[in-house]
Amino acid sequence: MPNRAVVFVSEARADLADPTLVAIMADAVRFNRDVGVSGVTLFDGSRFLAYMEGPPDGLDVAFSRALGASSHSHLIELARGRVGQRRVPYWPMRLVNVEAGTLPQLLRADWTGFVQRVEQGGVPATAMELLTSLVQPLAEAA
Ligand SMILES: Cc1cc2nc3c(=O)[nH]c(=O)nc-3n(C[C@H](O)[C@H](O)[C@H](O)COP(=O)(O)O)c2cc1C
Repeated sequence: MPNRAVVFVSEARADLADPTLVAIMADAVRFNRDVGVSGVTLFDGSRFLAYMEGPPDGLDVAFSRALGASSHSHLIELARGRVGQRRVPYWPMRLVNVEAGTLPQLLRADWTGFVQRVEQGGVPATAMELLTSLVQPLAEAA
């Protein structure tokens, strides 16, 4: 069964404390690891952008768990579909803090088909390229 992926943006609860965030992510890591899901959650201090991928059954449950979480609201699904090859194979889930300008950039970019072309002239052209250009250096540094 081919892997599938889903990406969403949401608003963090205003009073979300750091320890809560750590616990949420630890919980996500535990669950995702069990069901073979990998992914990353970008956080700019007020919004999340989460990308997750894996076998359809596990992914559906992981996404439902995120959907039901009380620590965020106004969740908007940006894209969903098949991915031939994992785009973020490094972590079951990981929180990455980003600058305020990063999420608008990813929201404007094209998520269609989770296409990851080779960068042209060093400028990431698709949303997936932008995302991987953010996370790959972190994975390589580990
Ligand atoms: C931004 C965000 C991303 C999440 N990603 C995942 C995930 O990838 N897998 C998963 O099983 N749960 C995920 N969750 C759910 C949490 O791990 C946790 O189960 C949930 O936040 C607990 O519910 P509560 O916030 O209502 O206490 C996510 C939650 C949030 C807020």
